Amino acid sequence: MTNKYIYFVANWKMFGNLKSLNSLNKVISFLKKFKKNKIKLIYCPPATLLKPLSDKIKTTKIKVGAQNCHENENYGANTGQINSSMLKSVGAKYVILGHSENRHLGEDDNLINLKIKNSIKSGLKIIFCIGESYSQRRKKITKKILLHQISRGLRQIKNKKNIIIAYEPIWAIGSGLIPKDTEIFNIIKFIKKKVKGSKVLYGGSVNTKNINVLKKIDNVDGFLVGGASQNSNNFIDIIKKTFN
Ligand code: PGA
Repeated sequence: MTNKYIYFVANWKMFGNLKSLNSLNKVISFLKKFKKNKIKLIYCPPATLLKPLSDKIKTTKIKVGAQNCHENENYGANTGQINSSMLKSVGAKYVILGHSENRHLGEDDNLINLKIKNSIKSGLKIIFCIGESYSQRRKKITKKILLHQISRGLRQIKNKKNIIIAYEPIWAIGSGLIPKDTEIFNIIKFIKKKVKGSKVLYGGSVNTKNINVLKKIDNVDGFLVGGASQNSNNFIDIIKKTFN
């Protein structure tokens, strides 16, 4: 697992204010000592912190990502919305799309597909989230669900080189539960077979303890970390343990 780039994506969700950015100082100095390892570190703060965060990490290897965007890449009369070109203009290089917390609010595969297409046009890289619910897992239809999300979400997108897939079982998010390592391995294998050449991250309750198991999954390209990324010590610990 150490001879390829490993992604660590911090998804801060609706947490954090200007003061929270001070916690990045630790991560920045940690990174300086951690130069030899191949890591891609992406911070996805709330939209209010995109600009100050990109200013802060300008001279570091950290990249900035947004947590969602409107489907139209042009300006429009859409109160409260932000589009992908606006995100790009404040320093975002990535955008998380298809997160289950937004699917839950009514985003469907077609809308997500449109968001992905237009965000790519704006020059952003995509962290495309897919995952099954607990009842779908119990019905053993996980692969069917994932395939559905992949084929609809990535419809008519020929060049997928700017798309990273994050496998996030809905029931694992924020619950402290994770699938068995062999299950994650098999699902990632399945996703990589369906989307040739794709990088696949695992997300859902990644923490300083279970990372010791997760890091051993051969085909995982990194981790999408929610709760544990809000505390710099924990996040650094997760990164360190991955390479130990
Ligand atoms: P969690 O969130 O690590 O807090 O489970 C992950 C996510 O929702 O991306």
